[in-house]
Amino acid sequence: MKIVCTKKLLKSVTPVFILREKEKPEKHLFFQQLSKSDQEQLHLFGKHTHLEGIYTHTVFLLSGRRALVMGIGKEYNHRKAIRTMRRIISVARKERMSSLVVNLGDFRAGKKVDVNTLAEILATQLELANFEFVMYKTKPKEGWFFVKEVHVFTPHVRNVQANLNTGKIIGEEINDARALSNTPGGDMTPQKLAEAAQGIGHRTGCKVRILTESAIKKLKMGGILGVSRGSSEQPRFIVMEYLKGKKSEKPIVLVGKGVTFDTGGLNLKQGNGIYEMHMDMSGGAAVIHTLAALVRLKVKKNIICLIPAVENMPSGSSYHPGDLLKTMSGKTIEVLNTDAEGRVILADALTYAERYAPRLVIDVATLTGAAMVALGQRASALFTTNTVVEKKLRQAGEVVGDLLWPLPLWEEYEEEVKGTFGDVANMGKTKYGGAITGAVFLWQFAKQYPWVHIDIAPRMTTIEGEYLAKGAAGASIGLLVSFVRDF
Ligand code: BES
Ligand code: ZN
Ligand code: ZN
Repeated sequence: MKIVCTKKLLKSVTPVFILREKEKPEKHLFFQQLSKSDQEQLHLFGKHTHLEGIYTHTVFLLSGRRALVMGIGKEYNHRKAIRTMRRIISVARKERMSSLVVNLGDFRAGKKVDVNTLAEILATQLELANFEFVMYKTKPKEGWFFVKEVHVFTPHVRNVQANLNTGKIIGEEINDARALSNTPGGDMTPQKLAEAAQGIGHRTGCKVRILTESAIKKLKMGGILGVSRGSSEQPRFIVMEYLKGKKSEKPIVLVGKGVTFDTGGLNLKQGNGIYEMHMDMSGGAAVIHTLAALVRLKVKKNIICLIPAVENMPSGSSYHPGDLLKTMSGKTIEVLNTDAEGRVILADALTYAERYAPRLVIDVATLTGAAMVALGQRASALFTTNTVVEKKLRQAGEVVGDLLWPLPLWEEYEEEVKGTFGDVANMGKTKYGGAITGAVFLWQFAKQYPWVHIDIAPRMTTIEGEYLAKGAAGASIGLLVSFVRDF
């Protein structure tokens, strides 16, 4: 989609009027820019229509153009402004409007977000809303309908275009991650995920190394080997390196869970729990595309991505409940449940991260259903003992609309994951606080550096009413790009 800034309303584009509660179209900046007869028509529309609550109207003007008039209801805040950006695209797609003009100022809502940041967010959100996973569908005769161009009206044309371009890059990378996550398990194996990372290496110029099973064996990554044993697909360990920061600057390491399909293993998932588990590599996709965005934005930092990629399957060769796996760290994991596989593979990745002497390690994983129970589906769970980083991450998330909410990471909880026959158990002793148990387990392998864990299970898929296509939500990429750039 083309996203360009403009100082005037072109005749061929559909103007979008975002109106507050009971506000008339006359109040909007665009009104004065229309012809007298179009103004008259909009005036009549406003006179005869209840402009209350959240509404959408298409008004056919005498000049032949249409106007999109959208009400945002009583309260307006930054979260709602972000949702409104997406709502515009959602409506435009339904109404088959291919080019729009929106007023950047319409998205200012309370929060002190400057024009440049707002432009960036707008471009990202427009891209996100214009995405749909159609790769596996037969193309209709008339083709798929996507919005072709959005003109962004602002008096500050010069700087704003650069921000729109940045936001567009971020949106594109998030959408590419959503496409990866949406790809069915049969077509998205550990090797395919590795190839996707390699593709990004070619596209952006960052270095990508793929460790195969024999290299993983040499490294004694018993967690990864254990989980992948039940599958006919071999594991991969993906390493991406982008070192454009100062030589003396320690890197930030991003670790992503890459379970390309999670059946639960011998502790086979029940009912429809297995449904959507092809998206269990969303953490991996997120860090891969966070890096891709940072490379494209030419961020001068040292960044590493690590993705342990496996398929968790039940078979005659599967790892068993009760198995004791020796990890790369030397610690043993007591497997109490083969469905708690994410933490088992991440344990090895977190140990591997030590070799970079990182200044910060952030892992992203669709780790627990319990995080969804705790938070619902509107925020990912955040765990860290570093209060400064916690604050910065949450702030970054609030600004870009990729929300986090903290849960405790306290040593008291470590009791929960003490093993009976091994060092660390991969499940807690009670049915309570499963998201915390998952985090505390990972912590046992992340004590050598400052560390953050983000459980994106709550945000694995989009939900009704957020104006995003069904399927993967692309959580944590927007927030990580924003955080890493400024860190
Ligand atoms: N991949 C799942 C977690 C998940 C569930 C993500 C639903 C997204 C939506 C993870 O591997 C898992 O199965 N976790 C178990 C852990 C339990 C066995 C301790 C869970 O959450 O039930
Ligand atoms: Zn699982
Ligand atoms: Zn899983």
